[in-house]
Amino acid sequence: MFSPDFYLPALDLYVELTTMKQKLITHKNRKIRQLQELYPDINITLMNKTNYDTLLAKYGVGPLGQASAHGIKKVLYSQEQIDEAVSEIATRISSDYDGKRPVFLGVQRGFICFIADLIRRINIPLDIDFMAISHYLGDDTNTVKITKDIDLDIKGRHVLLIEDIIDTGMTLSLILRHLKKRSPASLEVCTLLDRKTRRIADIAIRYTGFSVEDEFVVGYGLDYKEEYRNLPFIGIPNISVDCD
Ligand code: IMP
Ligand code: MG
Repeated sequence: MFSPDFYLPALDLYVELTTMKQKLITHKNRKIRQLQELYPDINITLMNKTNYDTLLAKYGVGPLGQASAHGIKKVLYSQEQIDEAVSEIATRISSDYDGKRPVFLGVQRGFICFIADLIRRINIPLDIDFMAISHYLGDDTNTVKITKDIDLDIKGRHVLLIEDIIDTGMTLSLILRHLKKRSPASLEVCTLLDRKTRRIADIAIRYTGFSVEDEFVVGYGLDYKEEYRNLPFIGIPNISVDCD
């Protein structure tokens, strides 16, 4: 009746790929809904071609993986707008975690500007730790590998994961699963940017700076092939696919 195109074991997720026009997708969506009703324990998601190409590009393959950026074509959030959003989050965190001494946990490297600005606006004691991960494609099951684990013992601690951007949510869902095994007292997510349109893994986010649309963004810690992290604002790079 229905056979999804992929199974991602690390996420226990089936992926159905579509190249159909938007108006024809309704039918596919209905099919997926029926499948979910019949088998509520099965995780399945529908991906269109653009989302699929973007996902492949993350691992450096596919048409977008060959692209290069030439400057910034549009500023999305100015330094002032970022400042304001960061201050607002800092105020909320300071009051929500009062008396709890939270552990701020960053996943390298995109969070660097965000965490630096955020912690300086927080007026309660806190601890900081980092993790590093690598994306891999091809070696059967593991698509994300933890290359640097946390150093602090988070058992019984209130952990706040600090992210630059949550896109598909795949990275984060793996990290959250990894951290839950350490039995923290609480585990919440704080992200500067949230791109809901491409979400694959369902994740609850406690603090969000801005919601962004489908376009790829750089600056304020975020990179395009390791470039543009040091921009003080967030913008859209001029990306072209090199066809040679
Ligand atoms: P996810 O696993 O798809 O949610 O990927 C999240 C990670 O992908 C982020 O932490 C970023 O490192 C990277 N990423 C996703 N979208 C963008 C973007 O628009 N600009 C820069 N990096 C991005
Ligand atoms: Mg990241």
